[in-house]
Amino acid sequence: MGVHPLFTSRFSPLRYDPEWTISDDDVELLLEAARWAPSAGNSQPWAYFTARRDEPDHKRIVRHLAASSGRWAPSAGLLVVTMAHRFIEDTDWAYSDFADYDLGQSVAHLTLQAQAMGLACRQFRAFDLDGLTADLAPGAGWHIVSMIAVGRAAEERPADRARRTTADLRTAPWSGG
Ligand SMILES: Cc1cc2nc3c(=O)[nH]c(=O)nc-3n(C[C@H](O)[C@H](O)[C@H](O)COP(=O)(O)O)c2cc1C
Repeated sequence: MGVHPLFTSRFSPLRYDPEWTISDDDVELLLEAARWAPSAGNSQPWAYFTARRDEPDHKRIVRHLAASSGRWAPSAGLLVVTMAHRFIEDTDWAYSDFADYDLGQSVAHLTLQAQAMGLACRQFRAFDLDGLTADLAPGAGWHIVSMIAVGRAAEERPADRARRTTADLRTAPWSGG
């Protein structure tokens, strides 16, 4: 048995179908998958701000995109802002040492759920973090980490995709010694 096709067929598009719209039920399904991710001590240190292309919040988010992401992200049916619960409210004590790690895992669940639904995601950091943070004003201790564009890909998966080998995954950190 090979690696499950969900993993091998996934890719991050740079072109989305600008006509395709996502239903509320599908947004709910994506968050449902994200919610089932494992986390340190079951701390679940993640939150998601979602905006479908037809919602007023979409314009609010698009204003903060960088020039690069502004060329493709607005045409995706859904934009998602991801947030991690890094600190306990009004302190500099870590809420969890694994907050960003766990958020990433929850995003991976969302991404593969999208893939199973015939949708594609591109995660990205090309936006004005300070501007978006000022605008969305996440709760104390919460920090915006990334965004995800979700939609129907309007391009094929690239044939040539660079990946390190499994042998390199096993040896690279020790190769000096
Ligand atoms: C945390 C994170 C940040 C990323 N930031 C950007 C970005 O700012 N702009 C962009 O075009 N792609 C961004 N990407 C997408 C990666 O470039 C992409 O996942 C990588 O090239 C591998 O391609 P694949 O997802 O198609 O396998 C980001 C991905 C991750 C996980």
